[in-house]
Amino acid sequence: MIPTTFHLLELTDKDFQTIREVLYEHCGINLTPEKKELVRSRLSSHVRRNNMRSYTEYIDMVLSNRNGQEFVTFINRLSTNLTSFFREPKHFDYFKSVFLPERLARKNTGPVRLRGWSAACSSGEEPYTLAMTLKESLPSGRTVDAKILASDISTAMLDKARGGRYPADRLNTVPVDLQRKYFKQGNDQGEKYFQVSPTLREMIIFKQINLIQPWPLTTKLDFIFCRNVLIYFDKETHRKLAERFYEILNPGGVLFIGHSESLSGIQHMFKSVAPAIYVKS
Ligand SMILES: C[S@@+](CC[C@H](N)C(=O)[O-])C[C@H]1O[C@@H](n2cnc3c(N)ncnc32)[C@H](O)[C@@H]1O
Repeated sequence: MIPTTFHLLELTDKDFQTIREVLYEHCGINLTPEKKELVRSRLSSHVRRNNMRSYTEYIDMVLSNRNGQEFVTFINRLSTNLTSFFREPKHFDYFKSVFLPERLARKNTGPVRLRGWSAACSSGEEPYTLAMTLKESLPSGRTVDAKILASDISTAMLDKARGGRYPADRLNTVPVDLQRKYFKQGNDQGEKYFQVSPTLREMIIFKQINLIQPWPLTTKLDFIFCRNVLIYFDKETHRKLAERFYEILNPGGVLFIGHSESLSGIQHMFKSVAPAIYVKS
């Protein structure tokens, strides 16, 4: 039955607790009690749109089929996707001025093979920034066979990332010369947008991967960007992820995490070389 009056749906403590448990179990996300209002606001319009009379009814519907589209939508709505081009720029400086020269120095001639992973890529700004940094940093005469795997748990974010189309204001953090080189301007019913160039797009493979489940990776990696997602996980999940990242990196491979995140306080084998940058020695 469609509700006829508009009233604020209450998210009970029990409903919130169920959501916390499901999110932790499925994505490793550790929702603190303070996040209750955030959860309510992220789900409320969707609960109404589905003509549900309560969050309990909605949660029952979502959980009745964990392989269904509603479960995907539920996870998409609850994940925090904030990102930007050249976010935490020191990481890209390190990538350009330390990581790449070291890699190139190891092999004097011929193409250098590089495999990287943007492990919680959200709407794609991070892997496209990496692709631009790679393109811009290569000395002339050197070729690099570089591929970046870009993954996220959210299918909605991956669709945006694959599409590579961004509203004009998202490009504020991209230097103008790079905007000109790697983006094509378009107009959709009066709204200006920028479309990522095929040169960047073809360096990236997009895939849905849940970090706390098995990873379908078939090759060892040279660098991993796993930034601003650890913050939602607990220490034990950090420990397990650090162990798995270490395992999947080649010797000398580098792990970048968010500047507000840390591997301190957990056991790991990485060497810390700069803020939020770790190397497998
Ligand atoms: C705040 S964004 C970070 C984007 C980018 N790495 C950056 O630093 O700008 C966090 C991303 O982590 C994703 N995420 C949350 N839990 C995940 C999980 N278990 N596996 C993979 N991705 C996850 C979310 O969907 C979201 O897109």
